[in-house]
Amino acid sequence: MTAKYTFQLLSDTAKETYRQSGLNGLFKAGIRFAVSPLYKSESFWLTVIDMTEGKDQEKYHPRIGLDKLTFKVIASNEEAERLEAEGFSFRSVPTYFNYNLKLYEQWLDCGAVACCTFVGKEFAAIDWAIISKYTQGKIGAPPVRVDYDGNEALSRGAWVNPKYRGLKLWVFTAWKRNLFLLERGFLVKRGVVDYTNSPGKGISEASGHRVCGTGLRRRILWWTIWKEHHFAKPVLWSEIGKIAANQTVDRQR
Ligand SMILES: CC(C)(COP(=O)(O)OP(=O)(O)OC[C@H]1O[C@@H](n2cnc3c(N)ncnc32)[C@H](O)[C@@H]1OP(=O)(O)O)[C@@H](O)C(=O)NCCC(=O)NCCS
Repeated sequence: MTAKYTFQLLSDTAKETYRQSGLNGLFKAGIRFAVSPLYKSESFWLTVIDMTEGKDQEKYHPRIGLDKLTFKVIASNEEAERLEAEGFSFRSVPTYFNYNLKLYEQWLDCGAVACCTFVGKEFAAIDWAIISKYTQGKIGAPPVRVDYDGNEALSRGAWVNPKYRGLKLWVFTAWKRNLFLLERGFLVKRGVVDYTNSPGKGISEASGHRVCGTGLRRRILWWTIWKEHHFAKPVLWSEIGKIAANQTVDRQR
């Protein structure tokens, strides 16, 4: 990676953080970035959705004609190449995650499954289905417990083309991803949302996920420690405030 590209990458990430979290968020992210080679602490909400519920619901339909959309599931770089030959490109598009234009190729090599929506043939939205422990580890996802042998899957990497945001295209893509997972025999999908990720919380809520616990990942030099805590039962995102307050009271007792 050239110095120019590294600078561009940092600048783009800073702009996106500022857009999502404001000046205060950008300042905190800067401090975290500066000390991250030595120490990093990340807190997550753990989410869950029973995909058998609401699989036919109209509420997941986007604010754009379905006839304009093509949904594709891509499970290998060979499949991606075939689609690219037909004009459906996604690996070559710089996104929030695929900033180096290599990440999507690497994720496919690691066994992650790309769930993409195209408007016409233009790449419009993506989410990734993670269907094995091996893939979860290889792509560096938080090590949240997912019972892959018990019909559970994980998702990562939500992104929508800025041109098409606000059209419920992500909710649509996530719904289609769930239908694909159901066809493959998965019933429950888990997710992990960083505490600071407001868009992540918003789309998690809008796509029907509940919050089932919290996770803490600490990296000290080359050691990683992961702890997760599960609530008695999954709760709505709107109930999270109450849960947090109860936990503070519990800690004070
Ligand atoms: C977050 C992102 C995927 C949303 O895509 P989108 O197609 O605009 O989302 P949708 O239109 O499907 O949104 C559905 C609902 O999610 C919620 N939502 C969407 N974007 C949100 C945001 N930035 N902040 C909070 N909630 C948001 C809203 O409730 C929205 O419903 P509404 O439009 O009726 O208010 C897109 O803005 C994006 O790619 N951002 C950059 C990458 C990123 O931040 N990913 C975060 C998850 S890892």
